[in-house]
Amino acid sequence: MPLPGAALPAIVVLVSGRGTNLRALVAAELPCRIAAVISNRPEAAALAFAREQGIATAIVDHVGFASRAAFEHELTTQIDLHTPTLVVLAGFMRIFSPGFVAHYAGRLLNIHPSLLPAYPGLHTHRRALADGVRVHGCTVHFVTDALDSGPIIVQAAVPVHDDDNEDALSARVLAQEHRLYPQAVRWYLERRLDLAEGRIRVVDAPHPRRPGTRTADALIWPALD
Ligand code: GAR
Repeated sequence: MPLPGAALPAIVVLVSGRGTNLRALVAAELPCRIAAVISNRPEAAALAFAREQGIATAIVDHVGFASRAAFEHELTTQIDLHTPTLVVLAGFMRIFSPGFVAHYAGRLLNIHPSLLPAYPGLHTHRRALADGVRVHGCTVHFVTDALDSGPIIVQAAVPVHDDDNEDALSARVLAQEHRLYPQAVRWYLERRLDLAEGRIRVVDAPHPRRPGTRTADALIWPALD
């Protein structure tokens, strides 16, 4: 008889910071094993949480490497120890070389705090407020060579309130990130993400004419299962 969990696919989560998206992934009880959490920052709160959960951790601190190639070589080694089905970037704040991205082509996901292709890069909430946009949000996408680009899997849109500051807007977006990311990973694991001509279709997603998942202050599309 197989051991419980033995047949589950492995995923590896890369983090740099506080780890709230990691927490959401753990809480979702996805049909996979989080085989390891790897951080480029030794002090990342996400690492402490992973240890509490009994998840294997590793630190690959970019500061200690002479080149990006050397850093990525070690990072790849640490990831591939676990032969992951999927590598999940959950607030991992390093830019990858094309070689790294190619190595994980089709199995590298990222979450970004904006409605891509708007606001790639840093300080997305501050820039959205400065521009006076009325709708902001977050995106889960496959990673390709260009920064914060790649086929989009799911997005959540939130309103920008008149009295928002960066913290308030960031919190509103983050709450949706925690809903999107576990769903996107689940779709991946269920092999329901179909890529054609650079666009993702979620197989067996709710009918296109059905409204997206709506909460008090967000619209998510495709609708969550
Ligand atoms: C999240 O808002 C995530 O979207 C963002 O970092 C934060 C990590 O928070 N990622 C990026 O900006 C990547 N370009 P967390 O550590 O609490 O999950």
